Amino acid sequence: MHNGTSLTQFIIEEQRRIPGATGDFTSLLNDIVTACKVIANAVSKGGLIGILGTAGSENVQGETQKKLDVIANDVLVRSMEWTGHLAAMASEEMEDVYRIPGRYPRGKYLLLFDPLDGSSNIDVNVSVGTIFSVLRCPEGVDEPAVEHFLQPGTEQVCAGYAIYGPSTMLVLTTGHGVNGFTLDREIGEFVLTHPDMQVPAETSEFAINVSNERFWEAPVQRYVRECLQGEEGPRGRNFNMRWVASMVAEVHRILTRGGIFMYPWDRRDPSKPGRLRLMYEANPMAMIVEQAGGAASTGRARILEVRPTELHQRVPVVLGSREEVERVVRYHREHDRARARGGSPVEGAPV
Ligand code: AHG
Ligand code: MN
Ligand code: MN
Repeated sequence: MHNGTSLTQFIIEEQRRIPGATGDFTSLLNDIVTACKVIANAVSKGGLIGILGTAGSENVQGETQKKLDVIANDVLVRSMEWTGHLAAMASEEMEDVYRIPGRYPRGKYLLLFDPLDGSSNIDVNVSVGTIFSVLRCPEGVDEPAVEHFLQPGTEQVCAGYAIYGPSTMLVLTTGHGVNGFTLDREIGEFVLTHPDMQVPAETSEFAINVSNERFWEAPVQRYVRECLQGEEGPRGRNFNMRWVASMVAEVHRILTRGGIFMYPWDRRDPSKPGRLRLMYEANPMAMIVEQAGGAASTGRARILEVRPTELHQRVPVVLGSREEVERVVRYHREHDRARARGGSPVEGAPV
């Protein structure tokens, strides 16, 4: 028997603090948690059950799907569709909104997810995760369509991720801070191990895919150049760098020991306003990071206030320790002001 607070106990106690709560949301969370345990189990078995490698298909964004992308998506859909808590679902791996089959009751929430984040890491046995975001279905809508999902991140009721690393953890916010739970496999429960997670304000660690450096905008190039100059540069101190290529792992590191993570706009394909997806990657992570005292921006706007126009819309992401994010935002502002005074515009750059 463990001595800590289980995730089940934690969310029921949270529910008791909300007058008039029906328990619907508590059950919804429990169902998401169960799905994450099933995915964790599959991820940990890996090659033993033949689930590594590609599925031989592409998702709506033209990316090759891994077998585990498809399996994780299926687990979430099958675990959530029958519960009666959801009005509809949307996922990185499904082009359209997933309607709840007619044989099941409908609920009042919308669920969005990235079933497996960092899937390029599956075959090399590096941490991957699941990211999710819960919205309310607008009043009076029985059959939600894309437009009903297009709510800004400030409207999220809950956001979280599971990270399948050396240990499996679930990190969650319902808008009252961020709590981290570790899966105790012997008893099958997530146990509260990281209460009230906070992003340390100061940091000397940055995360960005530097192989894209030549395609970045000037303010991002400036920020990274100054970090690389270390003690001899304008920052007057040395920086460390990490790049896992799983956003969940980067955000988890930042929640644990601080830092800044950037996947900025770049010139490789000017039609894409970023790499990461707003609705099920950037928004939930932005809510978590803000709730832990950090900041999350596109470089020019608060991520949570971006007005979504498409389900699979991409967005530039700069998140982590507040002071560093504010510095990157300032560099964008200075750059845009200089440009407005007559400098040369960057073609295709987001404004
Ligand atoms: P996904 O596996 O869900 O497509 O997401 C991968 C994302 C994100 O987790 C990571 O930060 C980034 O893509 C990695 O991109 P690079 O391959 O350009 O490093
Ligand atoms: Mn992802
Ligand atoms: Mn994914």
